[in-house]
Amino acid sequence: MKVTLSVIKADIGGYVGHSESHPDILARARELLAKAKKQGLLIDFHVTKCGDDLQLVMTHQHGEENEKIHKLAWDTFVDCTQIARDLKLHGAGQDLLSDAFSGNVKGMGPGVAEMEFEERTAETIIIFMADKTSAGAWNLPLYKMFADPFNTIGLVIASNMHTGFAFEVHDIKEHRKITFNAPDEIYDLLVFIGAPSRYMVKAVYHRESKEIAAASSTQRLALIAGRYVGKDDPVCIVRSQGEFPAVGEVLEPFTLPFLVEGWMRGSHHGPLMPVSVEDSTPSRFDGPPRVVALGFQLSSGKLVGPRDMFADKSFDPARQQANEVADFMRRHGPFEPHRLPLEEMEYTTMPQVSKKLEGRFIALEG
Ligand code: F6R
Ligand code: MG
Ligand code: MG
Repeated sequence: MKVTLSVIKADIGGYVGHSESHPDILARARELLAKAKKQGLLIDFHVTKCGDDLQLVMTHQHGEENEKIHKLAWDTFVDCTQIARDLKLHGAGQDLLSDAFSGNVKGMGPGVAEMEFEERTAETIIIFMADKTSAGAWNLPLYKMFADPFNTIGLVIASNMHTGFAFEVHDIKEHRKITFNAPDEIYDLLVFIGAPSRYMVKAVYHRESKEIAAASSTQRLALIAGRYVGKDDPVCIVRSQGEFPAVGEVLEPFTLPFLVEGWMRGSHHGPLMPVSVEDSTPSRFDGPPRVVALGFQLSSGKLVGPRDMFADKSFDPARQQANEVADFMRRHGPFEPHRLPLEEMEYTTMPQVSKKLEGRFIALEG
């Protein structure tokens, strides 16, 4: 049976500040998706949150970029924004950059990760959701999962994974894409995806079966809006077990709280801390950035789960280390590399301050 899994998310208002989602919003979203399920548009759904982001996980049979599914997500965000306004939540409607829906939520603010596949006998799925960071945060973990044998031993000792995986990489500045084969082309691949603010792993495919293995959201809010309107807070779907990395291999990259861009005012580097859904409440300096992982088994499109994968105690040392790294980075205050490099600051105060002081710069002699 062919199933489409769509994860569509938006920050439509925070509680308190940008630290959490209000329960009334989640309840309303559940109500609206339950109605769509009853009407037969969805097979199943799960509504959750990561920090101040409302996350809609939906299964259906309408394929990727389907207008009805995207409209359902858009209408849900618009409806929930009304509750955010009534409660005077912070930044109500923040990620809805357009007034009118035009067939697809892409380019309108929300983040989208979708994949259509033939459901296997046992279909294991992990959905990652992050808050206070950018699209591109998945480059490092996806590389480790699908190309690094020090992370994924299956690449070495499982015959159904030994041919490797293909990485579809998007250049979001030039609006073009390229596919790299791992392991053959990992040096070329890393030249690009090591620069995650521009090059992003959009999808990963099994090289032999051609099956989709992972899909991520690559929408960059600042590029869509042309100014800072909050971070992208991306999502990523990963298929697991069998010819794909095992659950433990999929989660393993997050034992390193690697540095990502985001955090306070979307303008800092900080560690990505793996947490349970309950603990996705970025508070210290509006962070540090968080990632949650929900595990499901699919049964004819029905979402069996979720299991809150990072609630596990084995991620305690990563959290501890994340908090230590957060301390270390914070002590740099407004200096790079805690503060983002100039190009990324283009979306904050840099243009205004530069303009104001233009006449005061004097050419250096000699
Ligand atoms: C980061 C984020 C927050 C806000 C900060 C200021 O992604 O959402 O750090 O940038 O709290 O928020 P405003 O400008 O909404 O008062
Ligand atoms: Mg917010
Ligand atoms: Mg957010």
